[in-house]
Amino acid sequence: MTEAELYTVYRGIYIPKHWHSAESLKSFKEFSFRPDDIIIATYPKSGMTWTQEIVPLIMSGGDPASVETLPTWKRVPWLETAQASVLNLEERPSPRILATYFQYNMMPPSFFDVKPRVINVMRNPRDVFTSAFHYHGMASHLVNPGPQSDFLRKFFEGKVMYGSWFDHVKSWLNAEDKESIMHISYEEMMTDLKDSVARMAWFLQKSLDAEAIEKIADRCLFKNMKQDKMSNCSTFPHEVVDQTRSEFLRKGIVGDWKNQLTPAEAEHFDAIYKNKMNDVKYKFVWDS
Ligand code: A3P
Repeated sequence: MTEAELYTVYRGIYIPKHWHSAESLKSFKEFSFRPDDIIIATYPKSGMTWTQEIVPLIMSGGDPASVETLPTWKRVPWLETAQASVLNLEERPSPRILATYFQYNMMPPSFFDVKPRVINVMRNPRDVFTSAFHYHGMASHLVNPGPQSDFLRKFFEGKVMYGSWFDHVKSWLNAEDKESIMHISYEEMMTDLKDSVARMAWFLQKSLDAEAIEKIADRCLFKNMKQDKMSNCSTFPHEVVDQTRSEFLRKGIVGDWKNQLTPAEAEHFDAIYKNKMNDVKYKFVWDS
């Protein structure tokens, strides 16, 4: 199926019709934030599922019930999607943990008034591209990626779900409310998960002892989440996400792009990246 059949253009970017309706977007625009809400903001394939596991565990002091009773997408729902409208978010007790794939400038008016805390997870776009390429091959609600060179061109042009990686990352990095936003990368989480959990807990003003941090980090290891049906996205309907083609928790490594991009594509990626990111001061770990 084509982009026109599967996606809606919303504020200039493609969003999958399967997840959004005119009604859900209306509820999103009218959503009332609370000061103690916690928002996880990522571009797709950057570590959203992982963070949907980590943050509830942090907020519950490491209580496994916080992740055992609901699948990731119900425990930390995407605000802008149709699911959010049926999950009765207004009734949820504080602090609510919510997700978004939208750019900063697309957040609704209440977000800018209330300034809830945001954890923004970013990932090397080469690995995001690689992960997305596999995901588009298994997800019936997304346009089949086609030949890799075509998908790469669309990725650079932002003609993929949730728009351009470059615009997304820059929007959150350039956000005005600096103190209420924590930026972290998938790569930092891979390098030292305990430290990343501790940093998130500190940002969320949740005091955790070393034992609790260790337990949370252990539970959130790729190999453990992959076994857990509430956390490995296996509860997504099979006709929407066919995990016999590729698993949602696929490889969970840093640098898989080296197995995916040809040398010429990698060189082209570097040139585009340099050009599009030359105005960004933030130091990404993958640049060092
Ligand atoms: P790969 O396809 O590279 O394996 P998102 O949840 O934002 O869609 O991101 C999905 C990516 O995060 C997938 O990457 C998935 O395997 C990876 N991922 C999910 N949980 C993880 C974990 N606990 N540790 C490392 N990577 C994880």
